[in-house]
Amino acid sequence: MSTAIVPPADVPADPPERLRSDRVVYDVKDVTLRFGGVTSLDHVSLQMLQGEVLAVIGPNGAGKTSLFNSLTGVYTPQEGTIELAARENDTATTVLGRKTHEINHMGVARTFQNIRLFPALTALENVKVGVETRQKAGPISAMLGLPRQRREERESTARAYELLRFVGLQQRANDLAGSLAYGEQRRLEIARALGTDPGVILLDEPAAGTNASEKRELASLILHINRELGISVLLIEHDMKLVMSIADRLIVLNFGQKIAEGTPEQIQKNPLVVAAYLGTSEDDAQEEMDLNPGVTSMGDLDPSLFQEDEDADGSAVGEADPHTEENQR
Ligand SMILES: Nc1ncnc2c1ncn2[C@@H]1O[C@H](COP(=O)(O)OP(=O)(O)OP(=O)(O)O)[C@@H](O)[C@H]1O
Ligand SMILES: [Mg+2]
Repeated sequence: MSTAIVPPADVPADPPERLRSDRVVYDVKDVTLRFGGVTSLDHVSLQMLQGEVLAVIGPNGAGKTSLFNSLTGVYTPQEGTIELAARENDTATTVLGRKTHEINHMGVARTFQNIRLFPALTALENVKVGVETRQKAGPISAMLGLPRQRREERESTARAYELLRFVGLQQRANDLAGSLAYGEQRRLEIARALGTDPGVILLDEPAAGTNASEKRELASLILHINRELGISVLLIEHDMKLVMSIADRLIVLNFGQKIAEGTPEQIQKNPLVVAAYLGTSEDDAQEEMDLNPGVTSMGDLDPSLFQEDEDADGSAVGEADPHTEENQR
C-alpha cells in the first residue's frame, strides 16, 4: 500500500488563488558550505516560490539543517549566492554577510530541530518575545515606561494571545513553557516565530518526537499558516506521511547534494531518492521497485529510517544537537 497523499480534512486542498505566484522568495545558487573536511552543502541550487509549502528531505546528515542555517545567516557559505525577497513587494537582497536578526527583520522566521523556548517564562511571554522583535520602542523608552512603550506592551500582549489561539494553546497562556507537553512546545515555538510577522517560515523537524495525533495537528497547523496567513513554508521533516501530505514540492538532499526535486508523487517514485534512504545503489532500488510495483515507495519504507533515535521517545527537549550546539543557532 503506498502513501495516500491526502491533506488534513479541515483545510482547503489547494492554496487560494492569491497565494499562487511565480515570485521567488529564496533564490539559492550553487551554494557550498564546508566545515574543515566536511562538505555539508555541495553546490546546492534551489528556488522557493511565494505561497508554497516546500519540503526539504534527506537522510540524517544530508545537509538539511545546514541549508536552514545558511538561509538564516547562522553560517555563510564559502561559495554561491542566496537572495531573499520574503514579503510581497520586497526586492531581492542578498542574505550573505547579514546577521540572523537582520534576516529575521527581512521577513524570515524559523524554529529549531531541538526546541528552543525560554522554559521559565510563560507560553504568553515566549510569544511576546517574538512579537516584540518587531516593535519600535527602544530600551530607554521601555525603562521609563513612556506612553509608546505602554501602548506597544498592550499590543504585543494582544497579538501574543491571538497567536496562542491560532496554534491552539490559548488555555496554556499562563503556564510555564517548560511545563507544556512536547507537542505543545513545538506549537509554541511556531507561535513565537509567527510573532515576528514573517513572509517565510522555516520549520526544522516540527513533528520530531511528537505522537500521531500531535502530528496530525501540526500538519493542519502548517497548512493553516500557509493558506490563512499567506506565509511561504520551508519545512524539514522526516515523517514521510506528513511531508507528502502537505508539501507542494520537495527537494531531496543526500551527502550535501541536491539529488531530486519535484512533487510528492514524483519524489516517491524516484529510485535515486529511495536508494538514498535505503543506503543502496540506484539500480538496486530500481530493481526492488520493479519487483514490487506499487509497494516500494518512500511511504512504505521502514519509518524508523526517517526518525532520529533521540527523537523517537521525545527525550531530546532542550538537548544539544548531536552534531554541534553551533549547528542549531
Ligand atoms: N558546525 C558544524 N561543524 C562541523 N560539521 C558540521 C556543522 N554543522 C553541520 N555539520 C556537518 O554537516 C553535515 C550535515 O549536517 P546537517 O545537520 O545539516 O544534516 P541534517 O540533514 O540536518 O541531518 P539530521 O536529519 O540528522 O538533522 C553533517 O556531516 C554534519 O556533521
Ligand atoms: Mg537537521
